[in-house]
Amino acid sequence: MFKNRAIIFDLDGVIVDTAKYHYLAWKETAIKLGFDFTEKDNERLKGVSRMKSLEILLSIGKIELSQDEKEKVADMKNNLYKELISNITPNEILPGAKQFIETVRSAGILTAIGSASKNAMIVLEKLCLVPLFDAIIDGNSVIKAKPHPEIFLKAAEALKISPKNCIVFEDSEAGIEAAKAAGMRCVGIGSPEILNNADIVVSGLDKMNLNRLIDI
Ligand code: G6P
Ligand code: MG
Repeated sequence: MFKNRAIIFDLDGVIVDTAKYHYLAWKETAIKLGFDFTEKDNERLKGVSRMKSLEILLSIGKIELSQDEKEKVADMKNNLYKELISNITPNEILPGAKQFIETVRSAGILTAIGSASKNAMIVLEKLCLVPLFDAIIDGNSVIKAKPHPEIFLKAAEALKISPKNCIVFEDSEAGIEAAKAAGMRCVGIGSPEILNNADIVVSGLDKMNLNRLIDI
């Protein structure tokens, strides 16, 4: 039933609870720059590349920086983030995530990661999840960041599965837009008020099973 089908998973906020660490690192960066950064504003950064996130952050703080300064601030955020994830363990895998990935794989569905993060591989290795994916496309593999569909189209190409037979799991508005632009169906992970463009929204992978996949 699931032959020639694939699921492409976003990483941060879908499989592992690292979205909170990206937020904390950006918040600390904002405070260092002299302004506050709320969780509501953070929704605009989810799924978005590091430099694009910085541009959004600076526009919120009404701050203008030179290219050189921007690169230094982006490095500072990345160092803060890397420090926060340095001790993560498989305990931070979100509820039901590993089980759901294992279930779909045993049903013959191919699996990929489609994450904007250049740190995706470090996180997957720390969580011992690398063997659960047939392809891993991250922020190092693409030129155009979400909401551009490049990341998901590259994942489909690596898996040799047509985009219309791929389902994306995403926790960000930018990622859902990217999935739709790629011609894929999309399951939103989080709140239906925020992720209203997804085909369905669930609170987490613990709410998913093979039967629910058939209806999407
Ligand atoms: C993910 C996160 C974003 C993050 C982006 C880039 O998509 O949702 O919050 O900004 O990756 O991450 P990086 O680790 O490359 O800075
Ligand atoms: Mg995410």
